[in-house]
Amino acid sequence: MIRRLALLPLAFVFALSGCRQPPGSRPAAGDDIPIGLYGSLTGSTATFGQSTKDGVSLATEEVNAAGGVLGKPIRLIVEDNQGKPNEAVNAVLKLIQRDHVVAVLGDVASSLSIAAAPVCQQNRIPMLSPSSTNPKVTEMGDYIFRACFIDPFQGDVMAKFAFKTLKMKTAAVFTDRKNDYSVGLAQFFKEKFTALGGKIVAEEGYQAGDREFKPQLTNLRAANPETIFVPGYYTECALIARQARELGITVPLLGGDGWDSDVTIESGGAAVEGCYFSNHYHQDDPRPEVRSFVKKFREIHDGRTPDAMAVTGYDAAKILYDAIRRARSTDPKAVRDALAATKDFVGVSGKITIGPDRNASKSAVVLKIEGGRFKFVQLVAP
Ligand code: PHE
Repeated sequence: MIRRLALLPLAFVFALSGCRQPPGSRPAAGDDIPIGLYGSLTGSTATFGQSTKDGVSLATEEVNAAGGVLGKPIRLIVEDNQGKPNEAVNAVLKLIQRDHVVAVLGDVASSLSIAAAPVCQQNRIPMLSPSSTNPKVTEMGDYIFRACFIDPFQGDVMAKFAFKTLKMKTAAVFTDRKNDYSVGLAQFFKEKFTALGGKIVAEEGYQAGDREFKPQLTNLRAANPETIFVPGYYTECALIARQARELGITVPLLGGDGWDSDVTIESGGAAVEGCYFSNHYHQDDPRPEVRSFVKKFREIHDGRTPDAMAVTGYDAAKILYDAIRRARSTDPKAVRDALAATKDFVGVSGKITIGPDRNASKSAVVLKIEGGRFKFVQLVAP
């Protein structure tokens, strides 16, 4: 911890000191509009950052090809944070102080958004997270927004799905205890499942990076639950599923959006078949926005199907560029106010309205892993 603090750059201290004329608040006066994106382009959750970047880049290319915003092209500046909170702080500082960005897009992981949001807030630079779902993110201040639903909703969706659709009366929960997203989603699932009349029969924890889950899974197995809810990231979920099957646990596992990655299927194989998770979008959605986005994305990326991060990144960038257009200004305060007024924006991931809490109210989907792909099961309105 001491080492971590020592590594924080001096600039961080200034960034948080809330001086009157923070350098980042200088409105863009150049020939283009600088927009920052921070995310985990490398590290264990690299698909989060890379997919988001793919989505944001596509949105930016489209907008620039159509003449840009306010007659100027968008200049996207991307900073890698390696999936680490202190690097997320550094990334956002660079974007604000070095590049004088008008607004910041990011992060995916709630813990990283929570780490970097105070820097944006103190510098009065709007931040729009495409896909961080923990409630705390937007509670960091009035410049902090998200373009996705929050975990109390996602937790409700999966608890109801387990109890009402799958008719399960008992569940166990297996949480990544140092991950804000995982801890929050576990709590919201438990509250709803219990309120519906279900029973949480066992709880265990792990930490991102762990490779051995059998001791905890053995304890969960002893309680004989009808499902295990695993609100973690794809980096561990597939492995947890495999070890659960090795221990003879055959019940379907349930998860949240953190499961969304090709890695879940590639590394989970047969172990994740029949499992369900909630997500922001599904690839077979017949809406024209989805069809055309999936088609375009596949053309650019050798047939790869976009995951939820690509979609939410694309939507978040489009929402931000639309807000700058409506603000008729690149002044961060004006952009903030326009973001707050986002209403009925038709995105690929659905219709997006940003509420007074700076969260988006949106539907979620439940997907089933079947035949090595994510199959649509249910759409749940907010
Ligand atoms: N919602 C997750 C979080 O807040 C991040 C995530 C978004 C993961 C979308 C996968 C897909 O940490």
